[in-house]
Amino acid sequence: MAPSAGWLPTVAEIDLGVFAHNLRAVRQRLAVGCQLMAVVKANAYGHGVAPLARVALQHGATWLGVARCEEGLTLRQEGITAPILVLGTTWPDELAALLTHRLTPVIGSPEDATHLQRAAQRRGTLSPVHVKIDTGMGRFGTMPTQLMALLDHLAACTHLRLEGLMTHLACADTPDVASVQGQLAQFQEVCQQCAARGVTPPYVHAANSAGLYRYPESHGTLARAGIVLYGAATFTAPAIELLRPVLAWKTHLARVQAVPASTGIGYGHTFITRRASVIGTLPVGYADGFNRHLSNVGQVLIRGQRVPVVGQICMDMCMVDLTDLPTAQMGDEVMLIGAQGEAHITAADLAVQCGTIPYEILCGISQRVPRRYLTMELQPCQ
Ligand SMILES: Cc1ncc(COP(=O)(O)O)c(C=O)c1O
Repeated sequence: MAPSAGWLPTVAEIDLGVFAHNLRAVRQRLAVGCQLMAVVKANAYGHGVAPLARVALQHGATWLGVARCEEGLTLRQEGITAPILVLGTTWPDELAALLTHRLTPVIGSPEDATHLQRAAQRRGTLSPVHVKIDTGMGRFGTMPTQLMALLDHLAACTHLRLEGLMTHLACADTPDVASVQGQLAQFQEVCQQCAARGVTPPYVHAANSAGLYRYPESHGTLARAGIVLYGAATFTAPAIELLRPVLAWKTHLARVQAVPASTGIGYGHTFITRRASVIGTLPVGYADGFNRHLSNVGQVLIRGQRVPVVGQICMDMCMVDLTDLPTAQMGDEVMLIGAQGEAHITAADLAVQCGTIPYEILCGISQRVPRRYLTMELQPCQ
């Protein structure tokens, strides 16, 4: 098998057309007057941040969300000028770069405001800020009882302008409706208190993907969608079936070897053939993000058929049992995530087998795996 130019044994194929389709589907769920933030943190959930951010903006997202200042800087270096909200902590040492590159910070305490005010004053700029209120996530933001003190403090910060009030839902993708309703009620109450003081910032936001699909009352004026855009929702909701997986992870069979019964396979011989077998080797291991928990548990698709992973997954390789697929040949395409014929394996399938969530499976596909982008006919934003 002679590799053609540009041929790669293992790739994560990112279908930008599917991503655009998901964006359109998600936008149709938004309440009137609600803008869409595409959450592209963690390298767009492993899909590659710059191409996905561009498509998101071409298809109606007006904001991008990142976790860290450096992720926002990467987007600016890529020439992206749209508003970018840094959802996590911005540290004092990062504030100069944040202001220079017009990233919007989230703050949760008077100390955050003080640091930002000093940095903005030094630069002579006025920085927008979004204030986060911890209504029940227990992670980041001011407690509701301390919000008024923070607003008093902000009012004295000459170089800061309150642009948004936000909270984050802890249980929107779980059956715990009461928790979500409690958070939303608390958020609404503090927003009303703010309004009573004349504080009505243009952006009020609470919804993540699950909030967006399951709790229209969480939409406010901005919804922060991540996982649904990538077609890997962790919950059920009306119209969720319209979303399609953006990423397919494929490799090729590197070796096909007949072995006798009682042959030990891989480190520790955790799999011993029970019959004369054919063992295939894949050039993918846990260093690529093919999680070691899939050892003797996972499956892959070859020629449209499910084939079990046997033995421990190694750093760079793993083995599969081809005995029941006699047509398999070296060089055959192997689907780790994606569809082949009628069969498909999703990030959610791998997540169940690994005891984790699709987010971690997608983010866990390492940098060593080249991303290949399937381009699309760009369609006008609707
Ligand atoms: C503050 C915030 N908003 C929105 C999101 C997007 O979440 P999801 O991918 O569930 O839509 C995240 C992701 O964790 C987040 O941290």
